[in-house]
Amino acid sequence: MKKRLELYKQPVMLVGFMGSGKSAVGELLSQILNLNFIDTDNEIVKESGMTIPDIFLQKGEPSFRALETEILRKFSKTPFTVISCGGGIVLSELNRKILRENTFVIWLKCPVEICHERCRGGDRPLLKNEDSLSAAKKLYSEREHLYSLVADFEINTEHSSPDEIAHWIAPEIKSMTL
Ligand code: S3P
Repeated sequence: MKKRLELYKQPVMLVGFMGSGKSAVGELLSQILNLNFIDTDNEIVKESGMTIPDIFLQKGEPSFRALETEILRKFSKTPFTVISCGGGIVLSELNRKILRENTFVIWLKCPVEICHERCRGGDRPLLKNEDSLSAAKKLYSEREHLYSLVADFEINTEHSSPDEIAHWIAPEIKSMTL
């Protein structure tokens, strides 16, 4: 049976690949549902006083992942909140356990080519190589099943704007709320 949300006691988490729309959808969704909004990358920046590219460059990906887990732990029991997660949050088994046990997870699904196109010109450290499409495809294939392991609900974001998606998800969430 599908997990149900207990009156927003658990946070609503948005997961999915880079460029799937988590931050834009999350912010709109929080406004529609009148909940708080948190973005894990923003929290990492606040906590560390560094930008995401600088953390990757100066401290390395493992340090970034450790900060990501710290932030996830800190907010995983925060009620009345929508949280947009970095695309790699599902990589760690510990993070997946925290997500499954404490939160309600929505997976924003989108084909990798479209995600990649939306990320072009951005500053995402994992898409900095010359052949960023191949890099994105490799990451995508490693991660797709991990998103499905934590998802309580999924929606395809390929053809819709963040506003349409948020307005579509909001009543679904309400209907799943006890
Ligand atoms: C990452 C995704 C990014 C950010 C970091 C690593 C990833 O967040 O956390 O660059 O591993 O997929 P977005 O998914 O919000 O772009």
